[in-house]
Amino acid sequence: MADPKENVLMEKLVSLCKRRGFIFQSSEIYGGINGFWDYGPLGAELKRNVKELWWNRMTRMRDDVVGLEATIIMHPQIWRASGHVDTFSDPMCDCLLTRKRFRADQVDVQSGIAYHFTGARDSVSGKVSQDPFAVLLPAGKPPESARKTAVAFYQLRGLQNVELSGETTEKVENSQRFNPENGALLTEPRPFNLMFKTYVGPVADEENVAFLRPETAQAIFAQFKNVHETSRQKLPFGIAQVGKAFRNEVTPRNYTFRSREFEQMELEFFIKPDEAVEALCGQVATPSTPGHPGTPQPDWGWQMWHQYWVEERIRFYESIGLPRTTLEEYWQKPDELAHYARATVDLLFKFPFGTQELEGIAARSDFDLSQHQRFSGKSMTVFDEELKAAWPKLDPTRQSDLSERYRLARLKYLSKTGEPAEKAEKQAAEDAANLGKGYYVPHVIEPSAGVDRLILALLAHAFHEEESTDEKGRKETRTLLSFHPSVAPVKVGVFPLLKNKPELVAKAREVRESLRSHFNVFYDEAGSIGRRYARQDEAGTPFGVTIDFDTLGERPEWKDTVTIRQRDSGAQERVAIAELRTWLETRLR
Ligand code: GAP
Repeated sequence: MADPKENVLMEKLVSLCKRRGFIFQSSEIYGGINGFWDYGPLGAELKRNVKELWWNRMTRMRDDVVGLEATIIMHPQIWRASGHVDTFSDPMCDCLLTRKRFRADQVDVQSGIAYHFTGARDSVSGKVSQDPFAVLLPAGKPPESARKTAVAFYQLRGLQNVELSGETTEKVENSQRFNPENGALLTEPRPFNLMFKTYVGPVADEENVAFLRPETAQAIFAQFKNVHETSRQKLPFGIAQVGKAFRNEVTPRNYTFRSREFEQMELEFFIKPDEAVEALCGQVATPSTPGHPGTPQPDWGWQMWHQYWVEERIRFYESIGLPRTTLEEYWQKPDELAHYARATVDLLFKFPFGTQELEGIAARSDFDLSQHQRFSGKSMTVFDEELKAAWPKLDPTRQSDLSERYRLARLKYLSKTGEPAEKAEKQAAEDAANLGKGYYVPHVIEPSAGVDRLILALLAHAFHEEESTDEKGRKETRTLLSFHPSVAPVKVGVFPLLKNKPELVAKAREVRESLRSHFNVFYDEAGSIGRRYARQDEAGTPFGVTIDFDTLGERPEWKDTVTIRQRDSGAQERVAIAELRTWLETRLR
């Protein structure tokens, strides 16, 4: 549970986001739709900045990553191969009384006395219900309220004058089986697939079922071969994608944190299997110290690459204003790992409602490409010329050792997928033989971040309130969003000191025109200058430029200069218009 002080912060943040046009409830005029959110003018800019910063850092600033923009609806086999059709589900249960749906693993635990009933009878009509029911009451509460709830339950089953039968009690501790709101028993948990279903084409039948993608990653795997061949990249290299994902979450919650429609920024970074690295380099480097392992090296095994990407991602967050101290690394325990993962690090952020996942960085082995190879019948192997050349030069013992390790790894994967033993043995032996000829299925490291969670983290971290007392002794609160300049939706506010002085307005518009093709500039002439500053503080605009009478030459030495006010400190300085763009550029990175 979030502590009340933190809930107050969340309330203030939600209210600011609505008031200033960052985030609105989707379809608000119709009462909203749970789990869907729209980004208003400032939110849209903030989101664009975040996605562009991610994209630049992950693709354009690197030689070893290229981009992809794939469709949201893909061939349904993709989701069978990925395991989403069979396993992408949450346990769900319903309140027997109200039918309200819960995620079974997220129901608040409760203790008390459970009142069980085996059924009930209508004392007038004689009608009987044999549906069992139970109600949990905190210890010490009179049983009458449990009976009242049970009566309501049997009335819903068509009994009017309810006589309860078979009442027994049981002491219950730390149970998730009862509705925390009314104590009524919940149904047994059952899996609920989170994928949104639709139909492709005019006939809505099972043959035409398709899914809205629940992650962007699978498109990258499905297009791996095309991208590899056309981009002329050699392993290790990555494919990045930013785009919408959809999950029919049982209980969307915490504002945008768990939404049903959201955006992901995912990188699939393809690496050589460790056996190939060892054949090429004579060894496989593994992490020896925590922290960033430095410039990638040819002898890096999957663990080095995994650590590298964890550190790269933390550096990204630092560069956009989330210090390392706001993040926590959580290494998933073996029993928490997804079926495909060898290791996963969750980067957690301290949200106002608790410390929760912002991004996951998973080492997914060669599971994904192998699955698509099996399901599509198309080869997902790459040919590594250097490996082919290096293999014959290896000592025969090393050759057989590497082949055997590779064979066992492939066999483990194939057996897990349920391939018949004989077929799996044959395939694994073939794969091992092909390794020596330079062929293998790439392994992958996947840093997967949610855009909306990052936006929420940036908003929560940037939100500040400052108390001050004015000249008349009145208390004032200044609300500001201290965004890092690189993500701030508006970079500069431009204000004429007075709106009824045409010379000031003309000059201010001229300044705005000179800046707007370089930065997102907001021109504002309405209200006192203090109010205009306050509005931009709440929008998170790092700099305000004011055009006053000195700009026009009232004090000749300040002619053609403006006042720049800094959002966080409130400090002001005078800068020549001719230098304004460079002044801002150096501070907006
Ligand atoms: N391809 C791997 C994958 O999708 P995930 O941990 O399920 O892994 C990755 O999702 C990221 O996507 C999460 O760390 C989170 O930032 C974001 N995300 C997942 N579900 C979300 C939801 N319902 N609402 C908002 N963001 C979500």
